[in-house]
Amino acid sequence: MRKSIKILGFFILILLFSGNLFAQKITSPDGNLTLIFRITQGVPYYELSYSDKYVVKPGRLGFEANGFSLANNFAVKDVKYSSLNETWRPVWGEYSSVVNNYTEMLVQLFQPGEKGKSMNIRFRLFNDGLGFRYEFPNQPSLNYFTIKDELTEFALAGDHLAFCMPGDYDTNEFAYTTAKLSGIAPGMDQAARSKGYETKASGYTVQTPLMLKSGDGLYINIHEASLVNFPGMLLNVDDKNFILSSHLTPDKNGVKGYLQAPVNSPWRTIVVSNDARKILASRLILNLNEPCAFEETSWIKPVKYIGVWWEMFTGGGSTWAFSDYNKAKPGITDYSKLTPNGKHAANTANVKKYIDFAAKHGFDAVLVEGWNEGWEDWGSYVKDVHFSFDSPYPDFDVKELHRYASERGVKVMMHHETSSNASDYERQMDRAFKFMVENGYNSVKTGYVGYIIPRSEYHSSQWMINHYIRVVERAADFKIMVNSHEAVRPTGLSRTYPNWLAQESARGTEFETMGGNSCDHTTILPFTRLMGGPMDYTPGIFQTDMAYYKGFKPDQKVHTTLAKQLALYVTIPSPLQMAADLPENYDRFPDAFQFIKDVAVDWDNSWYLEAEPGDYITVARKSKGENEWYVGGITDENPREATVDFSFLPQGEKFVATIYEDGKDAHWDKNPQSYNIRTVSVSSESRLKIKMAASGGFAIGIK
Ligand code: NOJ
Ligand code: CA
Repeated sequence: MRKSIKILGFFILILLFSGNLFAQKITSPDGNLTLIFRITQGVPYYELSYSDKYVVKPGRLGFEANGFSLANNFAVKDVKYSSLNETWRPVWGEYSSVVNNYTEMLVQLFQPGEKGKSMNIRFRLFNDGLGFRYEFPNQPSLNYFTIKDELTEFALAGDHLAFCMPGDYDTNEFAYTTAKLSGIAPGMDQAARSKGYETKASGYTVQTPLMLKSGDGLYINIHEASLVNFPGMLLNVDDKNFILSSHLTPDKNGVKGYLQAPVNSPWRTIVVSNDARKILASRLILNLNEPCAFEETSWIKPVKYIGVWWEMFTGGGSTWAFSDYNKAKPGITDYSKLTPNGKHAANTANVKKYIDFAAKHGFDAVLVEGWNEGWEDWGSYVKDVHFSFDSPYPDFDVKELHRYASERGVKVMMHHETSSNASDYERQMDRAFKFMVENGYNSVKTGYVGYIIPRSEYHSSQWMINHYIRVVERAADFKIMVNSHEAVRPTGLSRTYPNWLAQESARGTEFETMGGNSCDHTTILPFTRLMGGPMDYTPGIFQTDMAYYKGFKPDQKVHTTLAKQLALYVTIPSPLQMAADLPENYDRFPDAFQFIKDVAVDWDNSWYLEAEPGDYITVARKSKGENEWYVGGITDENPREATVDFSFLPQGEKFVATIYEDGKDAHWDKNPQSYNIRTVSVSSESRLKIKMAASGGFAIGIK
């Protein structure tokens, strides 16, 4: 009797929760966002609306695994609701405390029948958007499995304006295209042509974070959070029906993930607002990451640095390599027998000059690239070993530089260009980190230029995702901070691993000497790449015209005014900021350089005052633990007048504001070095209008 009641109850459950019967809804804590989950003919769907507007229309959820489907025949076993409202404190960032407030719905699905599988979908609805992930629980019929495809759809409500770049398995260093979704194709093709190494994704795809603006004024950002043990996600584009769908990066066997239950996918994220400023202020992606993995974090410190770096991109022809060794010769065994080329930048005397400059102007560190053996033929995809990470070139005296730098209160920053040989880096990693600790280094810039070894992998495939995390975790064992270049774009993992200070993973300043970044580039970056975490953009170029260097790259130009370079320290927040230009160029403009010396790299609070993707950004920030504020404003190719509302300042006090602005005749191309510095008295009542030149900007320091 008991048993049959149980069975009857079970069938009633199936009836209730299957077919077209099941639909559940939750709303965000402020009631503005509504999420509806539905099962239709066994297929799971979700939709999201903002007030009365669709953010995404009903879109599919699910996976195809190799050998079975997790896409249909689903019924609902249970639905659990919960909510959270907590505040947590990041080790560093734009805000010293972050509110994590959401409504959660956990939908537990199962496929009736003997071979049926269980899959849960966890939705978290915040005031600024939605995160959801798939969870594959422990179950008798699911142990090891591989992913063929993720089917998640983002069914947009129209032909939105998109800020996007081509989908690629290996790189994010493309120029952005701004166009309606129906018209992005030509821009995608054009952008994809202008890079050195890449693997265009199969089909028609774009990269995330993808920024969109609807015709009726909704700003929508699609990305992922906490990318761990899973391949990076691109988006397939259907530019007729405006349905985007997940495109996981395969490995070269075509597999899109090797998993063992219990396991979760990363979070799929949709940040949304009718106010562009709130997209930039959103902490949703960080909130969806796990809390800090380390108990003790006092060794993690934001860094302002200079580097033996820009001289390799500009004048003089400085080289990373010690010699002009002919690549065609057999492998080098003894570097001390090579003939020096006389242009090797990372030599002890030159590095000391940088250390002196850093000490004089209060920088924390000096990055030195090209210090180690291997640069003579580092690009080769054929070699199995490229670099040695504990073998300095003969002219780089690591012990002496450690002594010299520490006497002056400066750190030398390590550089590990792996040449994308991740397997060899893993072999050497422990030795490399030990070498760093012994020689006084506490931060490393890693690099992944070229095609990945193991040769089965791409920069964004699952094995590499795990590699980057292994590096950051192992570095933490040695109390080392990491700045990774060319790695997969970030997904908020710096919350969990705050020693992962910054990444590149987009077109940085270096591209100003390799084709250029468009005038609107840095007005798009915060809405795209930076949604996942800080970027080592390497701003601060005062000598913007490369013709100055006589013959090296005479037609190359930085696409900003000098004042806009200053503003970038505030509009591109990062706990790791470089003053990238040559020391002698800073000596030519000491008054403007003062801003770079003053500006903070860690913040108590931030106020986005004005913002429109692709057009302009004005932001104010309060320096962490100091009564100092910094404001940055930038514009695209169009001159603009910014309005700075100082109501972020404490009431009833007067402050001195130093304004660094474009000169009256400034223009990024024709007159980039025209700037003006003035001081004014401000209070929380003040409003200032500041003019910006074409691709210009301004910076303000307030004390
Ligand atoms: C590319 C990096 O982005 C750049 O900063 C570095 O100097 C070169 N690779 C060499 O490692
Ligand atoms: Ca790069």
